Amino acid sequence: MMAHAAQLLRDTSVASIAPTSSYCAKKISSLIAFESAKVIIEFGPGDGALTDILLKKMRSDAKLLLIETNPHFIDILKERYDDPRVVIVHDSAEKVSSICQKLDIMKADYVVSGIPFSFLSMQKKKQIIRSTASILKNDGSFIIYQALTAPLGGVNLKKALSICFDIVHKEMLLWNLPPLYVWEAKKFYDYELKN
Ligand SMILES: C[S@@+](CC[C@H](N)C(=O)[O-])C[C@H]1O[C@@H](n2cnc3c(N)ncnc32)[C@H](O)[C@@H]1O
Repeated sequence: MMAHAAQLLRDTSVASIAPTSSYCAKKISSLIAFESAKVIIEFGPGDGALTDILLKKMRSDAKLLLIETNPHFIDILKERYDDPRVVIVHDSAEKVSSICQKLDIMKADYVVSGIPFSFLSMQKKKQIIRSTASILKNDGSFIIYQALTAPLGGVNLKKALSICFDIVHKEMLLWNLPPLYVWEAKKFYDYELKN
């Protein structure tokens, strides 16, 4: 928790004073069908609050791609996860499509994002959302969790998501500092035809 707060002082895109609680991380991970998921991508893993749970539940032949911008968290993740299923990339989520290309990852079953969309411009939100849609399987899910304290951020995120995704599930998780909302989104059924 102290590491998180210290990083927030240096890097506002960390956007929270504490990692996600293990209760909430478990609730978020319950949206994933681990028995069939072969590729999961996590945007903004921070120091691994959700990553720990994903790795506990993932198949032994699945892959977890972690994309994180904060160099301090990158060092922590590299030290923490000596696991052949994990690939750690120090870069920004909007590059996910070219990162996957370089790594020979064709499509993902799930993208789980803790990045603070409400801090991003509409243009950047849309870039990340388009890039995410391009690497998700047709029946894949984009799972987003955000601080409940940014209601306007939620409205703008919904608008940005509506270029490629339908929100199919919404949940509020109060046992967190700050409380979170979680959305699961699916690509439009005719996304590939339109893009
Ligand atoms: C609210 S914290 C969540 C950390 C962790 N997932 C958790 O649940 O405790 C947001 C994280 O997203 C990272 N981040 C912010 N913008 C990003 C971007 N464009 N691409 C990848 N990571 C980003 C931050 O450095 C930070 O680690």
